[in-house]
Amino acid sequence: MRNKLIVGNWKMYGTVKETRKLIFQLAVQWGKRCDGVEVGVCPPFTSLFVARDELKESHLRLGAQNCHHEPKGAFTGEISPEMLSELGCYYVILGHSERRTLFGESDEVVSQKVRAALDWKIEPIVCVGETAAQRESDETEAVLARQLEASLASTMPEDAPHINIAYEPVWAIGTGKTATPLMAQSAHSFIRGQLRKKFGNLADGMTIQYGGSVKPQNAFELFSQPDIDGGLIGGASLDAEAFIDIIEAASSASQR
Ligand code: PGA
Repeated sequence: MRNKLIVGNWKMYGTVKETRKLIFQLAVQWGKRCDGVEVGVCPPFTSLFVARDELKESHLRLGAQNCHHEPKGAFTGEISPEMLSELGCYYVILGHSERRTLFGESDEVVSQKVRAALDWKIEPIVCVGETAAQRESDETEAVLARQLEASLASTMPEDAPHINIAYEPVWAIGTGKTATPLMAQSAHSFIRGQLRKKFGNLADGMTIQYGGSVKPQNAFELFSQPDIDGGLIGGASLDAEAFIDIIEAASSASQR
């Protein structure tokens, strides 16, 4: 049985003060451990240091939203996996569609980052997903296959237990439009099939999260699908109450 994994992607939201408040609400005021669910939060880089301290006593894990693939060097504005590791990051989101479209990250770059994160014992959350135009022209599976193959080109079977995939249809991110549970399940099952081709039976233990306008209202049904192992949550993770409801929905879905 796979645990569910719920990770908050806070994007470029939250000053240090706001991060502290949100983490206090999640980790101290609430602080419950829900059966069958692992939880992570990915604040902006500037808040990672404080977040690590605030999370110390809790079961919530810390993650980052990106990293460079080199350990150090003349890369102005970049952050290395070693730096994230020093701050106690357990996860790093890689290849998010906002990175791919707004910052020109290719699958090859994502693959280098995935390798670097794994080498630093940080679990990558590798994002894949089709655009609306690609879905309309029936290219979803071809796009997912291509992205998975190229983004995971640097990995080997022994890496499989440490890799998480997030299926995030681009048209669903931040738009309020969610894939229906069946639509998402079909993409997740396809993704697991692709992972099986690469990693064999280890694919059955791999976490495939859904991301794209997950809300307390749609979380339970999405997470109840057999191949949906939790969610990568953007907007709703900035509201403690909504994020907690989503975590609890994942816990209920995991007991089914
Ligand atoms: P959203 O974002 O939940 O706001 O749609 C998800 C994501 O970008 O990871």
